[in-house]
Parts: sequence; structure tokens; C-alpha cells
Amino acid sequence: MTPFSASPAWQRLLAHRDDLGGKTARELWRDDAARGEKLTVTCAELVLDFSKQRANAETLAGLCALARERGLAESIERLFSGAHVNVTEDRAALHMALRGDENVSIDGVAVRPEIHRARERMRVFSQAVREGHWRGATGERIRTVVGLGVGGSSLGPKLAARALRSASDGPEARFIENLDSAEFDDAIAGLDPAATLFVVVSKTFTTEETMANAAAARAWVGQRVGAAAVERHFVAATAHPERATAWGFPACNVFAFPEWVGGRFSLWSEVGLPVAIAIGMPAFERLLAGAHAVDLEFRSTPLERNAPALLALFAIWNRNALGCASHAVLPYGARLAGLPPYVQALEMESNGKRVDLEGRTVDFATAPVVVGGEGTPGQHAFHQWLHQGTDAVSTDFVVVARPMGTDGDRHARLVAHAAAQSEALMNGVEAKEPWITCPGGRASTTVVLPALDPYHLGSLLALYEHKVFAEGALWGINSFDQWGVELGKRIAGAILPAARGSGEAPDPATRHLLAIIHKLQQSE
Ligand code: F6P
Repeated sequence: MTPFSASPAWQRLLAHRDDLGGKTARELWRDDAARGEKLTVTCAELVLDFSKQRANAETLAGLCALARERGLAESIERLFSGAHVNVTEDRAALHMALRGDENVSIDGVAVRPEIHRARERMRVFSQAVREGHWRGATGERIRTVVGLGVGGSSLGPKLAARALRSASDGPEARFIENLDSAEFDDAIAGLDPAATLFVVVSKTFTTEETMANAAAARAWVGQRVGAAAVERHFVAATAHPERATAWGFPACNVFAFPEWVGGRFSLWSEVGLPVAIAIGMPAFERLLAGAHAVDLEFRSTPLERNAPALLALFAIWNRNALGCASHAVLPYGARLAGLPPYVQALEMESNGKRVDLEGRTVDFATAPVVVGGEGTPGQHAFHQWLHQGTDAVSTDFVVVARPMGTDGDRHARLVAHAAAQSEALMNGVEAKEPWITCPGGRASTTVVLPALDPYHLGSLLALYEHKVFAEGALWGINSFDQWGVELGKRIAGAILPAARGSGEAPDPATRHLLAIIHKLQQSE
């Protein structure tokens, strides 16, 4: 495949950018008052407003030509057909099968029966916990479910549990990710171990953070309820059930999911168990249905109206043509606070790559730095950088049409602020004092959800998943591996004895750093 940067459609887009001559969206709105309708698309029930992008109809046509030339439709078909799109790990990435009903086969094996069985187990178990049929070892009802996992094994469930708080009528869901035991201490504060269920989520079942926290949790519950701790207070979600049983889980407490479910795409599997327990399986299935609706549209909608593809194409336009090295994700709503870190992991772990599918070092920029936080608090923190900083930044605003809380007027104010921010970024302001001037001309997309409920949250997350896949496909990189994270893990293992105070780290800079830390530890 031709490298992205050399593809003729891309070269034409760069020429078109030069022809546009730095025109801002404000000027483009003056050129064409109807651009709002032209640059707004729907996806499932989400509405995406691209009219504040620095792009016109010609840009859109050029981007779609790029997608055709890069074979995006074919890549989408390969993804959905269960082909081994993750080439370095030689496996499929078929998380969509967890929320759909197509008869897909991987390596000749139909996946539906396995998915169906797993879903039924999830249903029975989550219902048993919620209805008090599954109880702790001393007969207590489970009041809290604690997800132990990290990265893709935690970010999705944590985001969903918070976003869907109004749908949560079961045990409270909490999450522990960090190796820092302070997070563990804070999360269990006030909990009764006899009424707490831990869901240990790890695809590999080797991840240091998760295994260390699981061991700590086992000790904490064991002290209170004795030997039955694991049997009644721990379940595991993993692609390696044999490792979970070796750890001490009874086989019936292990929820296995297939290797073709990638970590950061795994919310839809047993990884979502803490969420299913909190909101109930019917609501969890609405989350799946919302995602499935987006899958169907991604696969079948023509490029010009295909929301995930357009989100990716405009991202590439901003990143590679307009030089935006950063991208901000700004959900307006407290319960969506988990969205920026979720999208950050999705984008940066998937597309933070420096070689293409053919192993060539790329000569173009891949994933931007993804930053973000919920509005409005972010306005009083880092938005200053968006408005007047020296870097070009593209932005996604996520707005929920219906109030998420009980007060409609405060919601109207929230919406006003979201709209005001995108307007301010687009138009800026001129003043005689240079420090008041905001240059404007900063591109944004606004994604509008009708309501923050399981269905629409599912749609939103699937939209971002497919955007990230489409970006990777256009760039010609593998979005489904993450080899870069391995090096640091290896080094941490090697220097752990030195960090504990015995032995020396081989690297002089690391020795120097550990000496500083050890000195401070002793100076207490
Ligand atoms: O280290 C990165 C990573 O491998 C992520 O891709 C993954 O989601 C996370 O760690 C947790 O991995 P696991 O589910 O195997 O514990």
C-alpha cells in the first residue's frame, strides 16, 4: 500500500488546503450560510455538527476521495468479517460481534454461540447479585462491586458506571486501577468486606497493578470472612481462565472472553460485569444496542454521511493538513468525566504508532496528544490554552440535549457554555490590547446526544472506537496492538529490587534517580 503521505488524494488535499488560504470556519460560514445542514450528519440517534471545521464542500469531497483511495470501505469490511486485522498479534478485532447478531466466524469458528453462552452467564450472575441470591460468605447481600483492572480493563467500565448513575439501581460500582495502595485504601474506606464483591478484570491476567490489587483485596476480605473469601467475593473476567484458576478462582467464578476482544474495546464483554451488576442486564443490553446501531451505520452508510468515518477524516485534516498536534475532548456534563481519559487511551494507545502496516517508519504525524476534561470546570482551568495558547488544537465538544440532573435551568446554562466555547474558538475576538485578543479559527466538532442513557452512551463510545479504527486504516497503521507499553514494564521488573533498596539499577540515570528517592525516604 502507498504510504499515506504519498497518496495522490492526500497530495490533492494539501493543494486544496493551500487554496483555502487559511480561511476560518467563520469566513466559510459567510461564504455559505447553508453549511450547517451540509456539514451535519446523524449516526444512530447522535447528531454530529462539523460546521465549525475549517473545511468546505470541496474539502469534504477531497477527504472522501482520500478514504476511497485508501480503501476505507474495504478495511471496514475486513474488520467486520473477522479478518486478522491485528497483524502483529495475528488476530481479529471483533468487539462489534459482542453487540450484534451477525453470524461471523473467526478462523472458521462461528462466534455467536460462544457470545450467547457468555451473555447468559453474565445475565444470571448479575441478576443473582442484584436480587440477593448471590451473597457474601457470611450471608450479607452484596452492596458494593469493586472493579479491579487497569487501562482498557477499567476505563470503559468506570466511565459507563459514572455516566449511567441515574440508571444504577443495584450495588454501587467502584474501581481501583493504580498500583499506589492509597487508591485501594481510599476505595475500600467505609466498605464492609462481607458485603463487597471484587471483579478482577484482566485480559492477560498477568498485569502487575491488577494482580497486586487482587492480592490485597483477597487479604482484606479474608481477614473478615476467612477461607471462603475468593469463592464468594471474587469473580474474574479474563481471556486466560487457566491463569485465574491457578490464582485460586473456582472455575465457576471465571468469566472468560475471547482473545479477539482487544483491551480498550472490551467494555462490551464480561469486562462490563461491574456495570451490568450496577445497572442490570437489560440496561447493559441497551448499551450494547446503542453501539450496535453505530456498527450498522459505520458499515453501510456512504462515506459522505458516515459519522465515524467523517470524524476520522476531519481528525486527519486537522492533524496532518492543519498541523494540530493536540486534540481536546470536552464533554459537557459531570457524569461524562470519564470520557476524556477513555478517548485518550483509545486514540493514543491505538494510533500512537511510528511504523505502518508494512513496517515502514512513517513520515507523517499519527495520533495527536489527546487532552480534555468536563465542562464547565475545564473552562476555569485549561481552556485558556485552547483560546490563546500558541499551539493549534482541534476540539470535540460532547453535549447532551436533555438535562442529566434535576435542574433544567442549570442544564440550559451548561448548554450555553458549550455553544459559547465552540463559538469563541471559531470566531475569537479582536481587541486593541493584544492580551485580550483571541485569534479564533480553531476547529471543533460538536457531538450531540439526545440523552445520557445506556443506549446513547453505547452509541457514543462505538462512534469513537470506529473513528480511531478509521484513522488507523487511513494512515495504514495497526490500531490494535500496543507494543510500546512493554518496554517500561520490563525495565520496572528489572529495577524493582533496586527500588526496594537491594542491589543497583544498571542504568546510571536510574541509579541517580533512585538514590534521590531513597535519600528522601530516609530523611523522614
Ligand atoms: O499496558 C497496556 C495494556 O496492555 C492495555 O492495552 C490493557 O487494556 C491494559 O494494559 C490492561 O491489560 P490486562 O487487561 O491484560 O490486565
